[in-house]
Amino acid sequence: MAKIGILTGGGDCPGLNPVIRAVVRKGINEGYEIVGIKNGWKGLIEDDLIKLDLFSVSGILPKGGTILGTSRTNPYKKEGDLQKLKDNYKKTGLDALIAVGGEDTLGVASKLIKDGVANVVGVPKTIDNDLSATDYTFGFDTALNTAMECIDKLHTTAESHHRIIVVEVMGRHAGWIAIEAGIAGGADVIHIPEIPIDIEETCSVIKKRHSRGKTFSIVVVAEGAKFKEGQMVLQEEKLDSFGHVRLGGIGDKLGEEIEKRTGFETRVSVLGHIQRGGTPTAFDRILGTRFGVKAVELVKDKKFGRMVALTGNKIVDVPIEEAVKELKTVDMELYEIAKVFFG
Ligand code: F6P
Repeated sequence: MAKIGILTGGGDCPGLNPVIRAVVRKGINEGYEIVGIKNGWKGLIEDDLIKLDLFSVSGILPKGGTILGTSRTNPYKKEGDLQKLKDNYKKTGLDALIAVGGEDTLGVASKLIKDGVANVVGVPKTIDNDLSATDYTFGFDTALNTAMECIDKLHTTAESHHRIIVVEVMGRHAGWIAIEAGIAGGADVIHIPEIPIDIEETCSVIKKRHSRGKTFSIVVVAEGAKFKEGQMVLQEEKLDSFGHVRLGGIGDKLGEEIEKRTGFETRVSVLGHIQRGGTPTAFDRILGTRFGVKAVELVKDKKFGRMVALTGNKIVDVPIEEAVKELKTVDMELYEIAKVFFG
């Protein structure tokens, strides 16, 4: 029986389990054996595998996270890991591999195909929604709704105490969560990584708002946003195996500056990993399910090196390379819409 391996790599997000379930259900229907690889590429290096059957995926549709576990392991980083991965891929007798991940996991998938190591099909995921070649990644909608609900909650306390509340959301290179949660939650100022923060401008917008009688403001900032001519605020200088630093802290810096320059009492709320948790929204469950089914179809058609993607409302396939070539940053038309409501 032909075998398909499936792994989930990088930051987890709601919607991964619906993909795993769909791959197993569709794969078994098509006569494949499905092998689950634990903790991303790490599982293939360490030969940490489990057989996935209908029982293993029963009841996982509404669960956040991933039943396979995940890691940020890069098999191209440590000497000897790639060879171990190759050996285990062969030993297990995998005919194809479905790699579910963001820019890093799919970047590895793309290299493995080029190097002739494995027959990979990609499935895009990230709460950041910053992958090119797909209109949406699953995980984003759930994170967006979580952030919006938090902004709603912060509104009532900001209003009662007549405070400014700075809400720091995730978004390393692209401000999709910040801009969309900010629009949906009625933020008074939104800062995204794509546009450097002009603190003078931010404070004057807030002061103007307060001069027309408002006694509170909500400022949304993406963790990857930077001050004009300034550096990103880092939580840790340590790099992960893909060379990423840990972001976080821009909210505190921004809050400090706002309070100092406007004289309005300010608080900061960092949403952090809460945005990656919880049960997937209907949108993410459906998108994950559609992606999983399509991924098995791509394996069946031997369309390796391809990634499933959403274009409009259609599930299509695109070269994995295209998705990892450049990041999809916030559409400036959307930013202009958000700006109408600043102040
Ligand atoms: O997966 C994307 C992301 O959620 C980014 O928005 C964030 O910068 C990063 O992951 C956090 O990673 P970690 O879980 O390793 O702290």
